[in-house]
Amino acid sequence: MRDIGLSNITAAAAQSFQGLPDARQRDLIQAFVRSLHQCAREMQLTHAEWRAALGFLHKVGDISSERRSEFSLLSDVLGLSSLVDLLASDASATPGSVLGPFHAVGSPWLSNPANLIGANEGQRVLLRASVCDSAGRALPTASIDFWQNAANGLYWQVDPGQPQDNLRCRLKVSDEGRFEIATIRAVPYQIPTDGPVWLDLVQPAGRSAWRPAHFHVIVSAPGYRTLVTELFDAEDPYLDSDAVFGVREALVGRYQDVIDPQACERIGVPGNTVPVMSVQIRLAAA
Ligand SMILES: [Fe+2]
Repeated sequence: MRDIGLSNITAAAAQSFQGLPDARQRDLIQAFVRSLHQCAREMQLTHAEWRAALGFLHKVGDISSERRSEFSLLSDVLGLSSLVDLLASDASATPGSVLGPFHAVGSPWLSNPANLIGANEGQRVLLRASVCDSAGRALPTASIDFWQNAANGLYWQVDPGQPQDNLRCRLKVSDEGRFEIATIRAVPYQIPTDGPVWLDLVQPAGRSAWRPAHFHVIVSAPGYRTLVTELFDAEDPYLDSDAVFGVREALVGRYQDVIDPQACERIGVPGNTVPVMSVQIRLAAA
């Protein structure tokens, strides 16, 4: 095509990907081209703005590494991560929520019940959960990938003061589909404020950097859709202003003081009662 103009540039660019062998990838790229062009047309995008956008993406790439994905954070603050989570959520299952930038593969396998407290400061608590299908039947084949921040708000990857793999684990649920993790109460934290996503985009918008306290979990079981989600603390002050749009009412759990002297002794809580967050996680069939 040798006569490209405003009237045919979008169709030409989309059509140029027609040869992609994977139909879904072809449809996605072509839809993306059309959406991108539509945005540029609607806003009458200028050269300076276009260069600024590319420069921003360069910076996002430059600060990203194996241990830090600024692209994930960008997706999160744009609400795209949550939109994808919501599109993938089955109404009969526990809703998904953002993966976030601090998930890393290779978390250590621990036996269930697990104890992650170690040398961590912070309020000692128990997370007790059951994993079931959408009809409430226990899923004894489920596996958990769990991670959270430390009392200073940081994840181990970005805090040299924490040991490797601090406050994260994988485990298998019990024959009854249950698991228990002794840990510290998660605390609210700010999204990274030293990168271009915050400095160039979120902060200038006057938005909050805070995320309400949460545990991250990935729950998987053969024959079921893997669930990536978060569990929030009902007493957190930032539940209504999460910087990455991750909160769903169904994911908010409340700590209850449970009388359990054995658990108290096991995890070093003085007295007879321990704060327990009890949740049920439902997976949708694959
Ligand atoms: Fe997080």
